[in-house]
Amino acid sequence: MLVLGARGHAIELLQVLEDIGETDLYFYDDVSPDAPAQLFGRYPVLRSPAEAMQHLHHDPRAALGIGGGRLRAQLAGRVRQWGGQLHSVVAHSANVGRHAVVLEPGLNVMQNVMVSNEVFVGEGSLINARAALHHNVVVGRYCEVSPGAQLLGHVRVGNYSQVGAGAVVLPRITIGQGATVGAGAVVTRHVADNEVVAGVPARPLLRKA
Ligand SMILES: CC(C)(COP(=O)(O)OP(=O)(O)OC[C@H]1O[C@@H](n2cnc3c(N)ncnc32)[C@H](O)[C@@H]1OP(=O)(O)O)[C@@H](O)C(=O)NCCC(=O)NCCS
Repeated sequence: MLVLGARGHAIELLQVLEDIGETDLYFYDDVSPDAPAQLFGRYPVLRSPAEAMQHLHHDPRAALGIGGGRLRAQLAGRVRQWGGQLHSVVAHSANVGRHAVVLEPGLNVMQNVMVSNEVFVGEGSLINARAALHHNVVVGRYCEVSPGAQLLGHVRVGNYSQVGAGAVVLPRITIGQGATVGAGAVVTRHVADNEVVAGVPARPLLRKA
């Protein structure tokens, strides 16, 4: 399998992959001048589209190993251009419901995540360690649900949005597309498209000019 990315999140994903027995791994990084030739002296880091294409010809499975929805979407586009297939990685310790759960391709479901029944997670999203998606939650495409965030029943998160670490989103709240919820927020009202909210209770973040 090819992991797109070779730094912070990719290194966390490596732990999940090794835990589920995936050890025939290659990483990809064509942006970091200081990327090593191998990760931990063992896993090759490919540096060019030609190398990636050659690898995907033998094993088309590709996992997104970077955070940030828009970047993940760009990388997913490259995977498809190179003839690869987006692959979801679900941690051994993730507790995923058995009924009416739809997990689209290209996800990372990290350690100790809870996904209840009747949950939908759109393509390419990252559900980070210890996050909880309760019943009837809908997470859009290329979202990031950060470590320990809690999405309570019937919450909806629009495409490309981020819910920060430890945030709590109360039942039936809708978070628009491209929105950001700050770390530790408690979201009690709907969040508009592209809005940034933070605090307890969460309020729009005022930015200085
Ligand atoms: C909310 C957030 C997006 C704002 O980022 P930003 O636009 O760069 O904002 P700044 O850091 O410039 O802070 C602006 C103000 O908001 C405050 N603030 C920032 N984040 C906050 C948060 N999570 N809760 C409450 N206040 C916050 C700052 O203290 C600052 O206040 P001040 O103007 O009175 O000094 C960011 O701080 C955040 O929480 N991101 C989530 C990070 C995360 O969970 N990552 C997971 C990675 S795995």
